[in-house]
Amino acid sequence: MTQPRFPAARPRRLRATPALRAMVRESALSPADFIWPIFVMAGQDAEEPVPSMPGVVRRTVDRVARAARRAEALGIPAICVFPYTAPEDRTEDCAVAWSTDNIANRAIRAIKDAAPGIAVMTDIALDPYNINGQDGYVRGGEVVNDETVAALVRMALAQAEAGADILGPSDMMDGRIGAIRDALESEGHQKATILSYTAKYASGFYGPFRDAVGASGALKGDKTTYQIDPANSEEALRMVARDLSEGADMVMVKPGMPYLDICRRVKDRFGVPTFAYQVSGEYAMLRAAAQNGWLDGRATMMESLMCFKRAGCDGILTYFAPEAAEVLGG
Ligand code: PBG
Repeated sequence: MTQPRFPAARPRRLRATPALRAMVRESALSPADFIWPIFVMAGQDAEEPVPSMPGVVRRTVDRVARAARRAEALGIPAICVFPYTAPEDRTEDCAVAWSTDNIANRAIRAIKDAAPGIAVMTDIALDPYNINGQDGYVRGGEVVNDETVAALVRMALAQAEAGADILGPSDMMDGRIGAIRDALESEGHQKATILSYTAKYASGFYGPFRDAVGASGALKGDKTTYQIDPANSEEALRMVARDLSEGADMVMVKPGMPYLDICRRVKDRFGVPTFAYQVSGEYAMLRAAAQNGWLDGRATMMESLMCFKRAGCDGILTYFAPEAAEVLGG
């Protein structure tokens, strides 16, 4: 595309006033773009801070209900629930993962009771319940695939029973989307949607999250035999094609900001609902710099979120959700 030469073209004309800038703005951010990840813990009427994620707390199930009503008031359509598990919930067989009464499933029901209009998203992976912090069973030093998928199916069904609207398999095992979809169909959960963590990279940016869910001390080894190599982008596209063919309704790229190229390629190639996860490490970096006075916290928060929309995302999982929604609403 050619532009007229200066001075016929003076691009600054369209940047000159807020009204003109608003008229030509290409992307828009609204609270409806956010999925708010929250951490749930056992107990009553309590919250505790997550030290590596300033401003983020773990809350008890009753406080989750309060968060759900806050989300509703702010126009945030969805909450994603992550459990903080005590060491005694971490076992060899990970059985707490599919217990109807584990705190994640209780939180799903509490959100549905408190704010029925909020969509509840889950995380499907064994790491909060696994003795070694891995997303799948470890046998002979290896994370095994098929046995893990069978457990993930049980976990997914328990979440759907609890009333989850959006199931989020984050484990990166092969065949899990198809297996979960088949089980949902045959067990009467035709309306449960799957937002697959499709392009989930083996990233150093998940560190603060692992503190938040109590997995840091538990994790033995790394996740490079199942999460994607950060050097790859064609592979991410193959994963999207595969997950869609197996029955995913929506796909996710994770982490977010360092992977905006992947977001754009996925959206352009497939045109399906595409989400990015602005993960714990991204949040921690921005917060820490702001707390030191090195960055303008509010400006960089809003800019980072807008960048996802520009990159083609339909929405963002972000710990900034309530704060950013407040900025947008006020
Ligand atoms: C667990 C899971 C992780 C995150 C979401 N689900 C951590 C991991 O894979 O180790 C990370 C989220 C974040 O860092 O904010 N399968």
